[in-house]
Amino acid sequence: MQSIVIEGGKRLSGDVKISGAKNSALPILCASLLAPGEHVVSNVPELQDVITMGRLLENLGAGVQSSDGVFHIDTENLAKDEAPYELVKTMRASVLVLGPLVARLGSARVSLPGGCAIGARPINLHLAGLRDMGAEVEIEHGYVVAKAKRLKGARIYLDTPTVTGTENLMMAATLAEGRTVLENAACEPEVTDLAACLSSMGAKITGAGTDTVRIEGVSELRPMKYSVMPDRIETGTYLAAGAITGGDVRITGCEPAHSAALLTKLRECGFEIEKGPGWIRLKGCDRPRAVDIKTLPYPGFPTDMQAQFMALMCVADGLSVITETVFENRFMHIAELKRMGADIKVQGNAAVVQGAENIFGAPVMATDLRASASLVIAALAAKGSSEISRVYHLDRGYERMEEKLRGIGARIKRVG
Ligand code: EPZ
Repeated sequence: MQSIVIEGGKRLSGDVKISGAKNSALPILCASLLAPGEHVVSNVPELQDVITMGRLLENLGAGVQSSDGVFHIDTENLAKDEAPYELVKTMRASVLVLGPLVARLGSARVSLPGGCAIGARPINLHLAGLRDMGAEVEIEHGYVVAKAKRLKGARIYLDTPTVTGTENLMMAATLAEGRTVLENAACEPEVTDLAACLSSMGAKITGAGTDTVRIEGVSELRPMKYSVMPDRIETGTYLAAGAITGGDVRITGCEPAHSAALLTKLRECGFEIEKGPGWIRLKGCDRPRAVDIKTLPYPGFPTDMQAQFMALMCVADGLSVITETVFENRFMHIAELKRMGADIKVQGNAAVVQGAENIFGAPVMATDLRASASLVIAALAAKGSSEISRVYHLDRGYERMEEKLRGIGARIKRVG
């Protein structure tokens, strides 16, 4: 099992180029199932989750070729409608083939995604929406079995603004008969990027990026040629890395508008933020002020940045209250941060962080994707050396992280 070793205490400075967004690439790759033919998706990040998704598409009968972040996907002849447990258990986003398969083939057999470190993460709203559209949906031996001769447009209210639920149902609705309205839909930029991709395939979608999305079903779609938007969580992660070291980093190839909530909070901490078309520059301050955050659906502060921001607050001047409202168990990084000397107390879904002058290098263990990013950020500022084990979590969501961090001065290497 590989680990990452970081020698902390170095100010980071220089440019970091952002890769394509993992959480946009995954649904967009699934959208290729909606239209037979040759699809081309570019700016796809080279991540474990993307490799898994490519395998899943091949398992369904698609031809998948990729090089230098460009995917060529041939979905002319789909051979199966099944997403097997062996693949789904390693990546929950596999559930995103459900809507496209029912829409394209009239049937799907998708393993229920198992539990997840950060929460139960049910998919009841995905299934309820498909039933609203006339699909028969049963759970059989751990699999979702869905059937529909042709889905019918429906008005669907989502109890929570589920991101992949909105994406699954939006994809299903593109080929349904009639109009579908998704109410209380997720507004995340990844939803908007998927909608733009679907529209380029001939789908008729309005309202993406708002809480009400309208889709007029069409009889067929054409193959896509689409480039994935930049990753806003990767952007925030490298901003936090620059911030905690008091450095001066410029993030390039990003979309500043997608990080408004984070930039507001970083300014409140006392960091100087400049931005322009495709770039953000953060200039460090001696010691960040402690700032409270509460995670919310977009455009609120992103839950996927909660762990990384908490690492920053561990060395802030004062007391910070971090409230996680999206997932019920997204504090696993706290035990590991405390091993580095952080002073954090958990009270329900809030973590109270008393900033310390210093935190200290230690052997720590990654538990999930963003928790592992949090430990990397803390290790960059810690006094001494840290070894972060189970870095396969990191590889799921960060393309060439060591290389990008070394490029701005980090003393980081992978071992084992
Ligand atoms: C997406 O997960 C992202 N993953 C997550 O990123 C992100 O944390 C999350 O959205 C929230 O922004 C991808 O896009 C691949 P949800 P998703 O459905 O869609 C409840 C990362 O680190 N819910 O918006 O699974 C659910 O339990 C990952 O990159 C239901 O109750 O999240 C949760 O409490 C982690 N029933 C809340 O909604 C449902 O049917 C939000 O979940 C669906 C969701």
